[in-house]
Amino acid sequence: MKKRIGVLLSGRGSNFEALAESVAAGRIPNAEIAVVISNREGAPGIQRAEARGIKTQVISSKGLEREVYDRQVAAVLDEHQVDVICLAGYMRLLSPFFVAKFLNRILNIHPSLLPSFPGLESQRQALEYGVKFAGCTVHFVDENLDAGPIILQATVPILDGDTEATLSEKILKEEHRIYSQAVNIVLEGKYKIEGRRVLRTG
Ligand code: GAR
Repeated sequence: MKKRIGVLLSGRGSNFEALAESVAAGRIPNAEIAVVISNREGAPGIQRAEARGIKTQVISSKGLEREVYDRQVAAVLDEHQVDVICLAGYMRLLSPFFVAKFLNRILNIHPSLLPSFPGLESQRQALEYGVKFAGCTVHFVDENLDAGPIILQATVPILDGDTEATLSEKILKEEHRIYSQAVNIVLEGKYKIEGRRVLRTG
C-alpha cells in the first residue's frame, strides 16, 4: 500500500510542487499525494495541484474559531486516509486538537535555521540580524509556532551582496531538497524521537 501524503498550503505552493516532483520521480518511493488543502481561495498552489491531477479542496477559514476550522480540515484528511501531513507554506497556527490528533505526523518547512528567526519574513530577519549563515528547517509540528523536533536542516552562506530576494531564492532551493528527504525519512519510519532530538535508525 502506498503511503498517503496530505499537503496544507496557503500560497505559491513551490514546496508542494517539489514534493510532487519527488513522488513522481521516485525519490519518495511508494507514496502518493492524496489531497492538497488550502485555507485561501485562489492560492496558486491549488492550481498547481489541479494541473497535476491531484485532488484539492479549499476550506475557507473566514469567521471560524481555530478548532472548528481544524476539525473540518481533519475530516478531509481522514477521508483521504493520510499517513503524513506536510505543511507547505501553510500560514495558520494549528489548534491543540489538530496537533494531538496527528501527533508526530505533521511536518513543516521553515525558511530559517530554527530556533533562530521563527515567524514571518525569516529571511529578512536573518539579513537584518547580520548572521553569516541562514538556511531552512524541516521539523515535526507541535502547538508552538515553528517549534517541534527538528528532522533536517540545510545551511546557505549569506554573502555581502545578498538581498532578501537572493537569500530567499537560495534558501528555497534547499527547502525543496530537504523537504522530500525529510518526508522520506518519516514515511520509511527510520527514525526515533528522543526528547527534542530526531535520531536516524536506518
Ligand atoms: C516557504 O519559504 C516556506 O518555508 C515558508 O513559506 C514559503 C512558502 O513557499 N513557510 C513558513 O514561513 C512557515 N512558517 P511555497 O508556497 O512556494 O512553498
